[in-house]
Amino acid sequence: MDIDSPEAFQSWLDELMSKGHLKRDVFKKICHILKLNKKNTSWYSKFDWFHLMPTYLNLQFVEGSCNANCRMCSAGKGIPLSWMTAEQVASILDHAPTVSSVTLSSGNSEPTLNPEMINILDLFAKRHITVDFYSNALSLSKELSDSILETETVNVINFSLDAATHKTYAKIRRSNFAQVLENINYLVERKKVLGKEYPNISVSMVEMHDNIQELPELVDYAASIGAFRVYVESLLHEDELLRGLKNQSALQNPNYKEFISEAQERALKHGIHLQLPPKLRISSISTKNTIDAPKQSEISTKPINTDGSRNLNSSPTPLNQNLPKKCGWINGLWVNINGSMGLCCVNQEPKLGNIYDAPLRENKAYLEIKQLLDQGKVFPSCMKVLNTCGYLSENKEAGVDVKKWIVTEKV
Ligand SMILES: C[S@@+](CC[C@H](N)C(=O)[O-])C[C@H]1O[C@@H](n2cnc3c(N)ncnc32)[C@H](O)[C@@H]1O
Ligand code: SF4
Ligand code: SF4
Repeated sequence: MDIDSPEAFQSWLDELMSKGHLKRDVFKKICHILKLNKKNTSWYSKFDWFHLMPTYLNLQFVEGSCNANCRMCSAGKGIPLSWMTAEQVASILDHAPTVSSVTLSSGNSEPTLNPEMINILDLFAKRHITVDFYSNALSLSKELSDSILETETVNVINFSLDAATHKTYAKIRRSNFAQVLENINYLVERKKVLGKEYPNISVSMVEMHDNIQELPELVDYAASIGAFRVYVESLLHEDELLRGLKNQSALQNPNYKEFISEAQERALKHGIHLQLPPKLRISSISTKNTIDAPKQSEISTKPINTDGSRNLNSSPTPLNQNLPKKCGWINGLWVNINGSMGLCCVNQEPKLGNIYDAPLRENKAYLEIKQLLDQGKVFPSCMKVLNTCGYLSENKEAGVDVKKWIVTEKV
């Protein structure tokens, strides 16, 4: 096919888009072609918008009340559940055809409560989009597990357990542990029977003074279900009163080093990744299979993005040994249920408009803002979340005066 005009190039893009091929390697190759040819052929610059399109989305999948009542969680109570519908998800994907991976976020609720989840997984599968999410597994029905296995579109599920015994689970998660184990077991057994590779399974624990003693046992459990990882999440809201109760970090347990050391030994034995937050790192132990919580710029979308509203692990930036040169979310996008878009998991300003309104390539605010980020610039709002932004915090730590990157342009 001869591409000798912007019209021909555009119809080539349209054709690829109609076939759902405008993703992954094809996306990268087109970005490369545009970059190479821009120098010699002026009309290629008409497609400057292309490389700013998102390849990764974080969708606010549900919001409102949760089916659990975890002691350390600030999830709302008594707020009616709202969710992203299959129709809304389809509209988002129509307007962002370069997207190839999605995280289903549910900061204050539980993704499996979305009554349209099965239809939505079908939709992702048809468009060859991979999905990650966190779940408490309480509502992981057999139908949902069957659909997860059949569609093979879920890359990673992280089961948030926080405990390895009924007693501790009851104290922290205050729900039905037996049901959780039964639901997970169904998924794991069917996965084995069907010989499926996906989903990859991860298990997590929010580190606290009265559950860290169960980390070694949690590692054993994770190995028994074929999980690739145990992820220890750093406790947020420490010492704040949540649900009338205070939570303390594992650091407050006088024996925490012993438990971590034992968990590391077991992780090594099982060949499982034990992902620890920096504050719980203990240096004397062999670290072959023990990885610390990585820096934002070191994480790819695989194998999982955590719930993006709270931490660093949802950066779509690929592994990079050097200091990050620009915002890690340049090809990522946060989308709320109402369609409003945020720049990243910790910053919703300036406004990028509404994704339901029009394709992103026609959204002037989106393109203008992304263009600035692409040049390495940041917004005043980014400074408010400096410590949770990988780009800014890593550069600042290295002594860079990051304030000089604040945009002077009015957006
Ligand atoms: C808020 S939940 C939403 C998804 C789902 N309901 C679940 O529990 O996995 C996402 C993750 O946040 C974790 N989490 C809850 N409260 C936390 C806290 N105070 N500090 C750190 N992580 C927390 C949960 O354990 C879970 O892994
Ligand atoms: S941690 Fe998850 S399951 Fe527990 S209350 Fe919060 S949102 Fe619900
Ligand atoms: S805070 Fe700003 S620079 Fe950092 S990830 Fe978010 S949008 Fe990018």
